[in-house]
Amino acid sequence: MAKSTRFFYCKNCGYQSATWIGKCPSCSEWNTFEQEIIHREEKQKGKALSVLIKSKPKSISDIELEEMPRITTGYQELDTVLGGGIVRGSLTLLGGEPGIGKSTLLLQMGLALQKQRVLYISGEESEAQLKMRAERISKHPNQNLFILTETQTQEIVKHIQELEPDIIIVDSIQTMQSTLIDSAAGSISQIKECAAEFQHLAKTTALPVFLIGHITKDGAIAGPKILEHIVDTVLQFEGDQHYGYRIVRCIKNRFGSTSELGIFEMNATGLREVTNPSEILLSHHDELLSGTAVAAVLEGNRPLMIETQALVSTAVYGTPQRSATGFDLRRLNMLLAVLEKRCRFKLGAKDVFLNIVGGFSIDDPAINLAIMAAILSSTADIPIDAKTCFAGEMGLSGEVRPVPRIEQRIAEADKLGFQRFFLSKYNMKGINASKYQIQLIPIGKIEELLKLLF
Ligand code: TYD
Ligand code: MG
Repeated sequence: MAKSTRFFYCKNCGYQSATWIGKCPSCSEWNTFEQEIIHREEKQKGKALSVLIKSKPKSISDIELEEMPRITTGYQELDTVLGGGIVRGSLTLLGGEPGIGKSTLLLQMGLALQKQRVLYISGEESEAQLKMRAERISKHPNQNLFILTETQTQEIVKHIQELEPDIIIVDSIQTMQSTLIDSAAGSISQIKECAAEFQHLAKTTALPVFLIGHITKDGAIAGPKILEHIVDTVLQFEGDQHYGYRIVRCIKNRFGSTSELGIFEMNATGLREVTNPSEILLSHHDELLSGTAVAAVLEGNRPLMIETQALVSTAVYGTPQRSATGFDLRRLNMLLAVLEKRCRFKLGAKDVFLNIVGGFSIDDPAINLAIMAAILSSTADIPIDAKTCFAGEMGLSGEVRPVPRIEQRIAEADKLGFQRFFLSKYNMKGINASKYQIQLIPIGKIEELLKLLF
């Protein structure tokens, strides 16, 4: 029997409540509850897309594991993030801020998958707009890519049964609508219901389904957490709007590791894979400039040589300014405090600006040593040789602490022709230095860095 009910949903995590509450008991966010009117056939909830497969319990020994190879996406970077390709029957969510390139990435994947029938369901762009974009991206597109501009899930399933595609792309989950629920597309209850329907479809038909989901900074449209537990894999597409680089990061993966990431570059003909990011991220200037230092960091499983830039100048206003792009400001303040205390630099009266080249945001604490070096270099106005790189975490007492997987970092620096590698002396254990051309310089305390560098 159909019935209408009012519910309040948390915009952030999707928690459902019969009354309005100020603080969400699930995610502890304030003022996130909104009312939605739901009209549904209780029995069918989450099942609307079911393709009439009757399920029954099976003994685990009776379940046959067919050798189902993963489908490669045609992009090595994307395959890596997915844990080796697309898994049949998997539901993948690609999240990211509007305009970052989610539609472009999945359309490109659809165009590249030559042997598969791909159904691209678009609730955002018209057929003509998608065609225009496809022409720009690919000269020889996949003839088996089908576009469907439909947002009703019940209609979509009819088309899926008719077309029998191998892969489904839904752009975006926020535009989808199920007739079982009265509230508008994009509301929490619609998103939850549509995602559940697509999950049911993926599981019963073994079709891989990709969902695109918008994420705004404050999570206003749909909190990312609502979908995270429904889907098998969550990919996050991130990057700075003003730079071409885009990172696909894996946040959750039932079929692989979450430490993988893929790097792409957005240009006039779509996204291009960046298989050797270090070479682009290092600026190639001829003359030496003070205030730059190269860090050997790990992003996921991949070593990356990245340039850090610091500018230290005398503060013009009473309170000195501190600004950091791509790095946590509190961590910068901590590093500055260590420098004040241990190296007796009078940074309290200086403005300090920090920038990580390429619009990247780095979490790896191994970048600390390079940042210290860049700040010291700018303060003293003495450039650091371009063939020098750093990897080390800073402790509060000024000690340089070891970082994980140091050999991988050294090997990458060596491969790119660096000549000096500063690292923590506690990292030296077990390293076979004769394997590398690069000179390893161990340091124990930040004071030593100052003496060794200048
Ligand atoms: P889009 O995939 O529409 O973003 P999303 O689906 O995440 O909202 O991509 C949007 C941006 O990508 C747009 O601002 C323009 C840029 N772009 C290019 O620079 N080159 C291209 O070839 C394409 C297709 C897009
Ligand atoms: Mg889009």
